[in-house]
Amino acid sequence: MDRIRIVGGNELRGTIPISGAKNAALPLMIASLLTDETLMLHNVPHLADVEQLIRILGNHGVDYSVNGRRSSQQEGYSRTINFTAKEIVDTTAPYELVSKMRASFWVIGPLLARMGECRVSLPGGCAIGTRPVDLFIDGLRALSAEIDIEQGYIVARAKNGLVGARYAFPKVSVGATHVLMMAATLAKGETILENAAREPEVVNLAECLNAMGAKVSGAGTGTIVIEGVARLHGARVEVIPDRIETGTYAMAVAMTGGDVILEGARGDLLQSALDTLGLAGVEISETNSGLRVARNGAGIGPVEVTTEPFPGFPTDLQAQLMGLMTMAKGRSKITETIFENRFMHVQELARLGANISLSGQSAIIEGVDRLRGAPVMATDLRASVSLVIAGLAAEGETIVNRVYHLDRGFERLETKLSNCGAAIERLSS
Ligand code: EPZ
Repeated sequence: MDRIRIVGGNELRGTIPISGAKNAALPLMIASLLTDETLMLHNVPHLADVEQLIRILGNHGVDYSVNGRRSSQQEGYSRTINFTAKEIVDTTAPYELVSKMRASFWVIGPLLARMGECRVSLPGGCAIGTRPVDLFIDGLRALSAEIDIEQGYIVARAKNGLVGARYAFPKVSVGATHVLMMAATLAKGETILENAAREPEVVNLAECLNAMGAKVSGAGTGTIVIEGVARLHGARVEVIPDRIETGTYAMAVAMTGGDVILEGARGDLLQSALDTLGLAGVEISETNSGLRVARNGAGIGPVEVTTEPFPGFPTDLQAQLMGLMTMAKGRSKITETIFENRFMHVQELARLGANISLSGQSAIIEGVDRLRGAPVMATDLRASVSLVIAGLAAEGETIVNRVYHLDRGFERLETKLSNCGAAIERLSS
């Protein structure tokens, strides 16, 4: 199993290219199930989760091809991929595949809309919380689907097609918004989704669906209206830049000090996180090529943050912010409201010398003057990268184990950081 070795203490200076967003690419890829024509996606990140979803879609009959030849310098970076679901050969998404990646459960929307039936395994819990699927079930039922649960599978049927309806989400869910939006594109009549997720990835999916011939309006607000159409066609769509990768590297620069251009980053996708970094004393400015992040001399100030659905502070940057606040000048408070068990990084940060105490859904972080390197491991993607951020500033050597978590969501992490002066390398075994 690969590990990452970091020797902390170097400032970051240079340019980091921001990849296509994992959490936008995944639903866009799944949308290819809605049409028998080719969906061409630009800027698809090269990540383990993308490769896994390609396998899962292949099981349903989706062919894919990667465009163009790449030089070795571009190897491992975002690319253009064509997805074609000419024929759906299997409407079952088996447990072995869905349990490996929760987002693959989202195939339920397009499969049901296009084929009138499907069997999709329940995804089960995961390291960050129980993550139920009740909103998907209620929402699809509102669109006139019959849903049964049989032996761990959701069996969904809509023999005469889905029918548009008004559905108000009792709780904001990114995944359930994606699924209902996709399902409603091929339903009869109008669907109105209220209290929908407003995340940029939802907007990117709506753009994709509209490019495929759907009639979706209001994405990015709490109310999305979808006028059903008889069929969708092929399209070319660009995956948005990864706001979580952007925020992660911004926090890395804040941690080490230095001056970095995050190339291709869009500040409007993560304004609340940038505002938080501004309050902590980090300089952030827009440039022609992306965002410039700098911290020279001054230390990091403490902050109080609560995670919220977009446009609030994202849960996917909570662990990284905590990594940064371990060395702030004072006491910070971070409250997690999205997932009930997303503090596994606390114990590992403590191994590096952080002073963090938990009280319910909040973490109190007393900033320390220095961290010291140690072997660490984490149980999810964002928690792992918070350990990288801390390791970049810790004295001596930090070894991050279970690198496969990082490979799920960070394209060429060690290359991007070492190009800016970090002492970081992958140890293959
Ligand atoms: C998406 O997960 C992201 N995943 C997550 O990123 C992200 O943390 C999350 O949204 C919140 O922003 C992808 O986009 C692939 P939710 P999702 O449904 O859609 C509860 C990462 O690290 N809920 O918005 O699964 C749920 O338990 C990942 O990249 C129900 O109660 O999240 C949670 O408490 C991790 N019933 C809350 O809603 C349901 O039926 C929000 O979850 C569905 C969700």
